[in-house]
Amino acid sequence: MNILYCLSGILGQKMGKLKLNAVLITAVTAFLTLAFFSRQPHGKKSDSNTPLILWWTKELYPHILKSGNENDIHDVYCPRSGLTCQSTQNREVLEEDGNRLISVFIYGTDFRAYEAPLPRKPNHLWALFHEESPQNNHMLCHMEALSVFNYSATFKRKSDFPLTTQHFPNKKYITSRKPISIEEKNRLRKEGLAPIVYLISHCDVPSDRDRYVYNLMGNISIDSYGACLHNKDFKDKSLTNTGKMLDDELYDILAKYKFQIAFENSNCDDYITEKFTRPFHIGSVPIYKGSSSARDWAPSPYSVIMVDDFESPASLAEFIRHLDENDEAYLKYLDYKNSDVIPNSLLRETLENRTWTLDGNDHNNFVGGYECYLCEQMHELKNRGESGQPIIPRVVPHSHLDCPPPEPSFGTIADIPPNNPFHNWVNDYWQSLDQAVALRDMVRDQVTDPEHLWSYIERRYHSGHGALQHTEL
Ligand SMILES: *[C@@H]1O[C@H](CO)[C@@H](O)[C@H](O)[C@H]1NC(C)=O
Ligand SMILES: *[C@@H]1O[C@H](CO)[C@@H](O)[C@H](O)[C@H]1NC(C)=O
Ligand SMILES: *[C@@H]1O[C@H](CO)[C@@H](O)[C@H](O)[C@H]1NC(C)=O
Repeated sequence: MNILYCLSGILGQKMGKLKLNAVLITAVTAFLTLAFFSRQPHGKKSDSNTPLILWWTKELYPHILKSGNENDIHDVYCPRSGLTCQSTQNREVLEEDGNRLISVFIYGTDFRAYEAPLPRKPNHLWALFHEESPQNNHMLCHMEALSVFNYSATFKRKSDFPLTTQHFPNKKYITSRKPISIEEKNRLRKEGLAPIVYLISHCDVPSDRDRYVYNLMGNISIDSYGACLHNKDFKDKSLTNTGKMLDDELYDILAKYKFQIAFENSNCDDYITEKFTRPFHIGSVPIYKGSSSARDWAPSPYSVIMVDDFESPASLAEFIRHLDENDEAYLKYLDYKNSDVIPNSLLRETLENRTWTLDGNDHNNFVGGYECYLCEQMHELKNRGESGQPIIPRVVPHSHLDCPPPEPSFGTIADIPPNNPFHNWVNDYWQSLDQAVALRDMVRDQVTDPEHLWSYIERRYHSGHGALQHTEL
């Protein structure tokens, strides 16, 4: 873990504005630290027949440390299929003549329409990698933006290379650790520990979670250690750092609580993070709000309390109080902890079947896995072309990242004060639709300079469409 944090620090500096989550840093770091590519010759010449992956987001390029020159072309060998492709971060390859297939690997959080890889030629495939929160780039929630991509790796189960279970490190994560006994939890309650813990430092997010939690706090006691609604300190203050998210010391404290507030920063189906998975590891019960279908990914249907099942914070508080006073009812939520087999077959099999790992002991982590997925797809396309079979165009459908506009966590939009940043998120969502439409149209019109985005958006305003119509809702 030390090497990992050290390297992720270097990466963090390189990344500048990038806000990569810890898991991706783990994956990329693993990529860098492994000798997977070490037997490849450095500084290879571009081979005009081999499919190529162009990493548009340079800060993530995983091969550079193995060679000196940032414009080098590297071979990528994919052991599962036995296929080879090439990879580079040198954008000049897009200017090549000929019809070599090139997949442009685009990291969703940082992608802006005014930086799109234009002009787009028929041999250019666009591949989206977006495992992070929808709030990081609302443009990608809109069908118009997705339709410019050919392949997707997102948190949606319907994505081409689904990353839905990215916050479950492995199967054992759920079953390996035993919960603190109910007797001990009750004893701690008598000593004054609240039944519920909240640990969030990223306040004012699109899901409007703090307004809900604030109201819940008025009805039942909650210990809040993070910056949002803070009312309690860790003895070791550094535990609130995001780098400590997976720390055993943190786990030990959180595990003492019967319940964990687990609200995502954005509500979108299949967007589930460590807020959802961590309680299952430590043996506490998540009070969850985020993906409305999250129960599909819980160890058992009775292991999670879904906030959306309750009419109000007060009725949720009443239910929690009932479980807090009734050990038998509470322990039903932790039943799955008594077995080594995860009862939910969808979760169990998805973790068994997925072809990538997160722990970095394998070149097949999810970043490298997607690079190989693209390599394999391009070889198939190439073979079809060479054998004269028809090419069926492939375009990413809305279901691969369909996320709704931000909604109040409870009540109506009229209940949210005008100065609450929530309203900015709603604006951001609809303004990003303008960018999505403009991006689609720029690709359609074979625009050569993505800076034309602004004139496309202006035209949209003048034609009576555009974000203003929506923000007046
Ligand atoms: C308890 O919840 C109700 C309804 O959700 C809310 O109106 C009330 O203000 C809360 N109580 C306190 C003391 O905050
Ligand atoms: C996992 O793989 C097995 C064997 O190929 C298959 O029968 C099963 O449907 C898969 N399950 C899931 C959830 O992908
Ligand atoms: C890739 O996507 C573009 C834009 O949607 C589309 O026009 C093109 O046909 C797709 N290419 C392939 C090979 O599917």
